[in-house]
Amino acid sequence: MVNKVPVIAIDGPSGAGKGTVSQLVAKQLGWHFLDSGALYRLVAQAAKNHAITLDNIEALETLAAYLDVQFSVTDDSSAVRIILEGEDVSTCIRSEAIGNEASRIAALPGVRAALLERQRAFRAPPGLVADGRDMGTVVFPDAEVKVFLTASAEERAQRRYKQLKEKKSNVIFSDLLEEITKRDKRDAGRSIAPLRPAGGAVTIDTTELTIEQAVDQVMAVCSQRLVT
Ligand code: DC
Repeated sequence: MVNKVPVIAIDGPSGAGKGTVSQLVAKQLGWHFLDSGALYRLVAQAAKNHAITLDNIEALETLAAYLDVQFSVTDDSSAVRIILEGEDVSTCIRSEAIGNEASRIAALPGVRAALLERQRAFRAPPGLVADGRDMGTVVFPDAEVKVFLTASAEERAQRRYKQLKEKKSNVIFSDLLEEITKRDKRDAGRSIAPLRPAGGAVTIDTTELTIEQAVDQVMAVCSQRLVT
């Protein structure tokens, strides 16, 4: 029997710390990292670049299928730059506006299907840490480790508020909280690949945890479940 490449699937709502925690876990293990949300954000960004509106489903599906993107590691390997159609979009795809568009686009079954194989292609030795909403349920249902990372909506809005304030953005906390609650509803309520803990997933609530504590808890689950 061929040994399959192990996957750690980390799912959960926006702002639960998945991105940071997943990257740190990947770094500790020396494994590859998939930021699946970036792919949905990239489709949203490409749609914006080509003036494709969200009701043009066929065009969105085509964009997703032919997405011209490169993930390039920076010289000091501290970060990954995301290049869409030759342009560095690493920063602009993180905006609230693109996040909201991505959440709408992510509800389209044709777009999800078009991105499926692209996500699975990240599974390469020695292993993959995959961050998203449906990593453990749909994309890697055979993942060795499944974690559902969550936090209260208030705490997630608070974290985002702090981040945006540091960037000197003019944001209102109650607007952010409302956006997060709406996005949760949309991501969890959609009929295809809704956000929910995968069967056998370990739920970790990060509301009261530091990043380091969250990473330690994920690593503890990994050491129980991964046969090394
Ligand atoms: O993780 P994120 O905030 O970058 O994701 C942006 C949006 O993409 C999110 O609102 C829902 C969607 N998404 C998804 O549907 N499935 C994934 N595996 C990852 C993200």
